[in-house]
Amino acid sequence: MIIVCPRCKKRHSVDEKQIPQKAKKARCKSCGYLFPIQSAEQTTEKSSSSSETGSSTKPTRIIGVALSKGGVGKTTTAVNLSAGLALGGYEVLLVDTDTQGQSSYSLGVKPKAGLVELITEELSPEECVFKARDRLFLLAGGKSLAGVKRLIDRKDFGGELTFRESLACMEGKYDFIIVDTSPGWDALTVSVLFYAKEILTPLSLEVMSLQGLTEFMKSLAGIRKYREEVSLRYILPTFLDGRVKQSQKILVDLKKIYAEQLCTPIRNNVRISEAPAYGKTIYEYAPGSPGAQDYRDLIRRVTNNTKLFR
Ligand SMILES: Nc1ncnc2c1ncn2[C@@H]1O[C@H](COP(=O)(O)OP(=O)(O)O)[C@@H](O)[C@H]1O
Ligand SMILES: [Mg+2]
Repeated sequence: MIIVCPRCKKRHSVDEKQIPQKAKKARCKSCGYLFPIQSAEQTTEKSSSSSETGSSTKPTRIIGVALSKGGVGKTTTAVNLSAGLALGGYEVLLVDTDTQGQSSYSLGVKPKAGLVELITEELSPEECVFKARDRLFLLAGGKSLAGVKRLIDRKDFGGELTFRESLACMEGKYDFIIVDTSPGWDALTVSVLFYAKEILTPLSLEVMSLQGLTEFMKSLAGIRKYREEVSLRYILPTFLDGRVKQSQKILVDLKKIYAEQLCTPIRNNVRISEAPAYGKTIYEYAPGSPGAQDYRDLIRRVTNNTKLFR
């Protein structure tokens, strides 16, 4: 018989004879949800009546913020993109896959659980997600993610799907899932690239990071051999300093090669670097600053809504 998890919609093929007679509930192997046992047909009947009552799921855009190089503005972008989308009225889940746990720090929150507990199925998805602001939810990262990396490394096969399987239950609940990644290229980053559908790459306007982009594009091409649907959708120049000639030159070069993906740059703005220490987003800390203006522009681009915040 086929049993469908009512939460993450994963279909499990189960041998009926193996279900103990007294068992009334099953736990979904994918999302950890405990639910009454029903066959797929019963679930379908129920879900068609629930869609009539308006409890349908929504299409979720999954954006990974990634580049192997550190210090280019990935975390800053993931946090302010997520917070800006939430301010714009979208339901957002920010997922921090970095061991430094900077997303929580930047938002001034201290969740007790997060991504680790979701992946290891220690807690239910509800217990892992932390409400950081209106419409903005966080799956926190942190030191214990190092253990998850080892867990993925130890898997004989399918390690790259770890992330996708663990987060399957989150799809349909949010308009956007934004995933912040750590610098470097490890099992967790690969797992994220097997999950995200769109990649946003922040790129600080200096020669070294341009080399980083070339390297990253090569690695991404390797992933695309197995997973065509992931694409580099946005390149976001960061740390733009109009006075530095080199920045302008790199911008011109980027325009030639990546005209379609290139977003309006984020200016080098001291307010952006100050905000995390206050646990505030750039819109809360300095709403009128160039940094806030630039990130609002990014939100308009990502949502394709030119009227947002105007
Ligand atoms: N546009 C910007 N202007 C000034 N400082 C910035 C800007 N973007 C990021 N920063 C600062 O630069 C540092 C590195 O940014 P971060 O987002 O942590 O990079 P990454 O996640 O890629 O390592 C942080 O201290 C951050 O506050
Ligand atoms: Mg970071």
